[in-house]
Amino acid sequence: MIKMKKNTIPDLVVINANELITMDTKFGCPRIGNSMTELGIINDGAIAVKDSDIIFVGATSELKTIYEFSKIKTVIDATDQLVTPGFVDPHTHIIFDGSRENELEMKLEGKTYLEILEAGGGILKTVTATRKATKEKLVENGLKILDEMMSYGTTTIETKSGYGLSLESEIKSLEAAKQLNFNHSMDVISTFLGAHAVPPEYEGKTDEYVDLITSKMIPKVAQDKLAEFCDVFCEEGIFSIAQTKKILNVAIKYGLKPQIHIDEIMDTNGAALAAELNAIQTGHLLKSNEMGLKAMAQKQIIATLLPGTPFCLMLKDFAPARKMIEYGMPIALATDLNPNCWTASMQMIIVLACYNMKLKPSEALTAATINAACAIQRQDKIGSLEVGKKADINIFNAPNYQFLAYKFGGNLISKVIKNGKIVVDIQSVRMN
Ligand code: NIG
Ligand code: FE
Repeated sequence: MIKMKKNTIPDLVVINANELITMDTKFGCPRIGNSMTELGIINDGAIAVKDSDIIFVGATSELKTIYEFSKIKTVIDATDQLVTPGFVDPHTHIIFDGSRENELEMKLEGKTYLEILEAGGGILKTVTATRKATKEKLVENGLKILDEMMSYGTTTIETKSGYGLSLESEIKSLEAAKQLNFNHSMDVISTFLGAHAVPPEYEGKTDEYVDLITSKMIPKVAQDKLAEFCDVFCEEGIFSIAQTKKILNVAIKYGLKPQIHIDEIMDTNGAALAAELNAIQTGHLLKSNEMGLKAMAQKQIIATLLPGTPFCLMLKDFAPARKMIEYGMPIALATDLNPNCWTASMQMIIVLACYNMKLKPSEALTAATINAACAIQRQDKIGSLEVGKKADINIFNAPNYQFLAYKFGGNLISKVIKNGKIVVDIQSVRMN
């Protein structure tokens, strides 16, 4: 566990952490089954950082014997605090304009997600607004969202296009995502989701829209290196299994890695397709059948669970996380931030995962860090606090990791360190 580089003066150290959660990858990467509860905890923990990397992780007493304190520029005292890896949010949709707060009352009246979509609301309402928006406006919106995400402890995200649904607007959306990666300290990884819905001009002509995606959009996205992954909303009434397969096979041919939104509203056998296509990660899985889940478990395909979405849709059932863990499936957590489910907070998602999917706090934290890093294939650099990894570190006003799921509704962050720099520093509020 303890490794170090001598004769170096760190730029920053964190010391005296009540609990330092390393998420040490020796316990598995991704973690499955019981290893999801192995957090690699160091009490009275310390970390040393040089440039953007971690150079020491271990006990404070040990760190003090290695480095000369007077020479270190930034010393953070984390007495009584919890230190974890920065959260990784591996499934979001932050490139959009407008909002959909009006849909809450429709949901309260009992309208379903697909009924709202069929009535021209839902994704299609956001498509109209996003098509009208300039790239600059999408970047401006995205920067505000990234600031908020980071204030809650998220240091890397994946985000998708999917509210453009034309060659021009999808490219605009992906260029905005790329711009966000340059303009913000958050690492932003892009996914092409041209197959998010069938746009109005292709109503009743889904196959023709699929042709546009495979013959024009994917080649352009690949040629301009605008995305690393390709996703499809595979759902009854949206894109079928056959259409999803066609799109993702073309994407793979062009070097984009496959992901799928599966079995969110109905079981379309999406989990089996994910296994067949060796998808890197899958989202939702509320209705997936046993055979499909087992096929995914066998291939160790990551199920990214998005409990914010059934919460916002007021559904009774959440994804069967306990069964997935029992089957040995690697699971991750994400916000799914989109205009239907607008939360920037992975802390909120951890709470929902524990209370509605019965994850233990340790499992939820694993799913929000190291397993989430695996979902976007970044486990070599982020997701755990280990020597050689990026110094993406959260410091919480909480004595232990259980507090993340226990004290809910606020923001427990004290400091967020991204690439070795303090990017969020929340002073406690005193009103007297
Ligand atoms: O993952 N289900 C498909 N896509 C998004 C929702 C998009 C929207 O409603 O705007 C999701 O939940
Ligand atoms: Fe999604």
